[in-house]
Amino acid sequence: MTAPAMSSFPLYQQIARKLRASIEAGTLPAGAKMPSVRTLGKDHGVSILTALQALRLLEQEHLVEARPKSGFYVAPQRDTLPAEARPIELAPLEDQAQTHLSIVGTPCRVRLDLANGEAALYPVAKLGILMRQLIYRDPTLLGNHVRGTGHPPLKQQIVRRAFDYGCELSPQELVITHGCIESLALALRAVTRPGDGVAVESPTYFVILQMLRSLGLRAVEISASERGMDLAQLKLALKAGQLRAVISIANINNPTGITLSPEDKSRLVALAERYDVALIEDDIYGDTHFDPVRPRPLRALSDKVILCSSFSKTLAPGIRVGWVAGGRWSSAIASMKYSSTMGTAIYPQAAIAEFLRTGGYDAHLRKLRHTLHKQMTRMRDAIIRHFPAGTVASNPSGGYVLWIRLPAGSLSSRRLFEQARREGIGIAPGYLFAAGGQFDDCIRLNAGFGWNKDVEHAIQTLAGMLGKPWPIRCPAEDW
Ligand SMILES: Cc1ncc(COP(=O)(O)O)c(C=O)c1O
Repeated sequence: MTAPAMSSFPLYQQIARKLRASIEAGTLPAGAKMPSVRTLGKDHGVSILTALQALRLLEQEHLVEARPKSGFYVAPQRDTLPAEARPIELAPLEDQAQTHLSIVGTPCRVRLDLANGEAALYPVAKLGILMRQLIYRDPTLLGNHVRGTGHPPLKQQIVRRAFDYGCELSPQELVITHGCIESLALALRAVTRPGDGVAVESPTYFVILQMLRSLGLRAVEISASERGMDLAQLKLALKAGQLRAVISIANINNPTGITLSPEDKSRLVALAERYDVALIEDDIYGDTHFDPVRPRPLRALSDKVILCSSFSKTLAPGIRVGWVAGGRWSSAIASMKYSSTMGTAIYPQAAIAEFLRTGGYDAHLRKLRHTLHKQMTRMRDAIIRHFPAGTVASNPSGGYVLWIRLPAGSLSSRRLFEQARREGIGIAPGYLFAAGGQFDDCIRLNAGFGWNKDVEHAIQTLAGMLGKPWPIRCPAEDW
């Protein structure tokens, strides 16, 4: 499959792409002056503003730098990696982090810590009826021995749905798992050996860091800007030959909520191919997008991408069924699945297959997205209203969670976590989202459990713990 045609990108991105190619090819060497906005505007038949947008995009990528009153220049070659982007042995979790991790997700009065919703958000009653009908008709769903890589009717449904969002999967490459976590673990085990370096976005979902730890892998944390993973930094790590694999939550990242632009997705896929490293994509939130159109996974750009997902965020958090499309690694993944858990229980797979076939999954997804968007907006508005000035709130492209940067001098996320728990409020402390405890000035809040007086009060309580709740005069900046 091919990358999207150039013309599908906004003009400024097309101009940036040409300039980027000249910089990467050395036609515009380090230190060279970039064409002025006027020249660019004239050459490409666009406004000065559009030309400026193109240069600003390259500036964000650290490819050019602005010099006051002089214009833009090609940035010096960055051949050294920032310290945090070097491979690091993941030390065992410190005691406090271990304790906090074991507490996140345990019952509390106000659930702002998880990344899913209350049962009412999911069609669990309908699923239950389907399950009873299925087992009545076919007791072998429980009575038979489980073997193989998954229930064929479920695979068929996954393949059919993936086709609609641009991915050509084959049933033979699919392995049905016990959730996306197992999918990621199988993919990692198939493509790495202990000691290998794996790039992850920073911040990233803390279970991925735990997984790297338990598999004896080294993390290479690549900073995420407001556009997602810093691809210039990733390229440096790739060039340094430090990586065996990259894990990306390119659609609706947990915790930042960012979806990579189509252009950055193409660049990421191209980089992984050029340096021959495995690209593992976690697309668990892809179906929870707030934009009208579902974002395409990286896998839509290349069948070399290993695509992982599950039904935990869309159908039923407790059903524990996921899948991995392993492409050229599919037999390695299948044999690891066999030797670790033999197979995934057929009964829930059959129920999901039936639901996808007959149960109005698309109508359910539309409702789910609408509800999540509404709840998220309300929670974000309340944060902007109540949290101290200087708070920065993410503006997620879908999903359940908000990533909040607290103003300088506030409580650390660790302290806030503990104080909030004493009031029965669960939050996810930011420091758990990076191996070295960075992001202790951030918290992740879940909007999935509805918007009601208790949640609003919890937001006010958190704001109170952070200091005097000054009204924010202008809206918090976007992440
Ligand atoms: C990015 C991401 N991947 C995977 C998972 C876990 O998926 P599952 O529950 O299907 O194992 C989560 C859950 O929060 C997640 O946020």
